[in-house]
Amino acid sequence: MEASRIKQLVALGVVAIVVMVSACVFFFNRNNQVALEGPQGEIAADETNSAAWGQFYPAHWDSYQDNMANTLNPSHFETKPYMQIIYAGTGFAAEFNEPRGHVYSIEDVKSIDPARRKAGASCFTCKSTQAPGMIKEYGDHYYLMSFDEMKDKITEPIGCLDCHDPKTMKLRLTRPALIEALERQGRSIDKLTNQEMRSLVCAQCHVTYYFHPDTKEVTFPWDKGLTAQEILTYYDEHNFSEWVHPVAGTNLVKARHADYETFMGSTHQSAGLACADCHMPYITVGNKKISSHVWQSPLNNIEQSCTACHRNGAEWLKNRVRTIQAQVKQTQDLAGAAVVEAINELKISRETPTVDKTKLQEAMALHREAQWYLDYAMVTNGYGFHNPTATLNNLSIAIDKAHKAIAKAREARR
Ligand code: HEC
Ligand code: HEC
Ligand code: HEC
Ligand code: HEC
Repeated sequence: MEASRIKQLVALGVVAIVVMVSACVFFFNRNNQVALEGPQGEIAADETNSAAWGQFYPAHWDSYQDNMANTLNPSHFETKPYMQIIYAGTGFAAEFNEPRGHVYSIEDVKSIDPARRKAGASCFTCKSTQAPGMIKEYGDHYYLMSFDEMKDKITEPIGCLDCHDPKTMKLRLTRPALIEALERQGRSIDKLTNQEMRSLVCAQCHVTYYFHPDTKEVTFPWDKGLTAQEILTYYDEHNFSEWVHPVAGTNLVKARHADYETFMGSTHQSAGLACADCHMPYITVGNKKISSHVWQSPLNNIEQSCTACHRNGAEWLKNRVRTIQAQVKQTQDLAGAAVVEAINELKISRETPTVDKTKLQEAMALHREAQWYLDYAMVTNGYGFHNPTATLNNLSIAIDKAHKAIAKAREARR
C-alpha cells in the first residue's frame, strides 16, 4: 500500500474516533443533565400539595396514602369520663377525640365542635402544610385571626413540605414555635444531628404548648426544661393560667399531647432511639426499601418496628406494651377520681360562708398541681409506653396533690 493511502486511512480513523468520542461525551452529558435536573428540582420550594411530590417519589406516596386506613378516632370520654368534669369551662369538655391518620387532619379540625374554635387560626398550625406559608404571609396577625377567617384558605393536610426540603429532601423544621424554643435553649438549628431531626420533625406538633397571652402566638413552655414539673414551674413563674374552673374556682393550665417531652429521658431515648425508629421503620414497597410513611401504632407492624432490636418475639413485645399501658391506666383512673373529688370538695368549701379564704386558696393551688400532672400523663399519646416510669411518677404526684387538696378544702370549712 502507498504511504499516502495509509496516511489517509489513519486520518479517517482519527476523525471517526474524534466524532465517536464527541458523540459519547455529548450524550453522556445530556443524560447526566437530565438526571441532575431530575425529579427533586421540579418540586416547587413551597409545594404544599403532597401529591405533586408523590409524582417523583411514588413509593413514598404509596406509603403515605396508606394513612387513609387509620380511620378510628374514638372520644376520649369513652375511657376517661372524668375528663369532662376536670375540663369544665373549656371546649375540651364538649368534644375531645383521640387522634387518627395524618391525612385526616383537615377534615377533623374543620368538623370540630364550635366550642373548640376559640383558639382561632392557631388551630391550623399543626394540621396543614400550608400553615408556615400563612404565618409568613400574615405575620404576627396570623395568630389573631379567627378560625372562620382561616378555614377556607386551608385545604392540605399534614404532608411532605412539613418535614422535607423539596430540593435536597433533607429533614428540616418548618414550625416557628419549635425553632424559637430551641433557639431560646441556645441550640443552633443547623447543627442538629440527623438522629435528633428524626424526632424533632415530630416535635413540631407532638408537644405541649400554650397561646402567648399577649400575642396569642403558639409557644412552647420549655425554657426551664421538658419535664412535667419544669413546665409547671415555668407557668407558675409566669403567673400563667388558661382558665378558671367554674366549679372549683381554680386557675388552671391545660396540658397538650407532650409526646416528645415525655419520650425525652425515657429508656429508649437515652439508648439513642428517635420517634422515626419505631414509627417509620424500613419497609419494602415494590423492589424499594424505604422509611415507612404510615404514622400509626407500631403494634400494627411489630416485625418492622421492634424486632430489629428485640429478639423476644412479637407476642412478648405486644404483651409488655399492653401490661405497661394497663398499669398506667389503672393509676390514671385513681388520679382522675381523686381530682374529681378535689373539685367537689372545693365546690362545697366555696359555698360555705364561713370558709377560711387562705386555706381555700391553698387547696386550689394543690388542685392546680394535681390536675396538671394528671392531664399531662393522660393526653400524651402511647398510654404511658413512651416513658412508663415518668408517666407513673407524674400520676403518683397527681394522686398525692389531689388528696392534699381534698384535705385542705375540708380543713378550710372547719
Ligand atoms: C412527619 C414528617 C414527614 C413527612 C410528612 C414526610 N416525611 Fe419523608 N421522611 C421523614 C423521615 C423522618 C425520614 C427518614 C429520614 C432519615 O432518616 O434521614 C424520611 C425519609 C424520606 C425519604 C428518603 C428515603 C427514605 O425512605 O428514608 C424520601 C424520599 C421521603 N421521605 C419522601 C417523602 C414524601 C414524598 C413525602 C410526602 C408524600 C414525605 N416524605 C413526608 C419524615 C417525613
Ligand atoms: C404538622 C404537624 C405534625 C407533624 C409534623 C407530625 N404529626 Fe403526627 N399527628 C399530627 C396530628 C394533628 C395528628 C392527628 C390527626 C387527626 O386525628 O386528624 C397526628 C397523628 C399521628 C399519629 C396517629 C395517631 C393515632 O392514634 O392513630 C401518629 C402515630 C403520629 N401522628 C406520629 C407522628 C410522628 C412519629 C411524627 C414525626 C415523624 C409526626 N407524627 C409528625 C400532627 C403532626
Ligand atoms: C420504642 C418505640 C417507640 C418510640 C421511639 C416512639 N414511640 Fe410512639 N408509640 C410506640 C408504641 C408501642 C405506642 C402505643 C401504640 C398502641 O397503643 O397501639 C406508641 C404510640 C404513639 C402515638 C399514638 C398512636 C396510637 O395509635 O395510639 C403517637 C402519636 C406516638 N406514639 C408518637 C410518637 C412520637 C412523636 C415519638 C417521638 C417523640 C414516639 N412516638 C416515639 C412506640 C414508640
Ligand atoms: C433501635 C433499637 C430498638 C427498637 C427499634 C425498639 N427498642 Fe425497645 N429497647 C431498646 C433498648 C436498647 C432498650 C433498653 C434495654 C435493653 O438494652 O434491652 C429497650 C427496652 C425496651 C423495653 C423495656 C424497658 C421499658 O421501658 O419497659 C420494652 C418493653 C421495649 N423496649 C419494647 C419495645 C417495643 C414494643 C418496640 C417497638 C414498638 C421497641 N421496644 C423498639 C431498643 C429498641
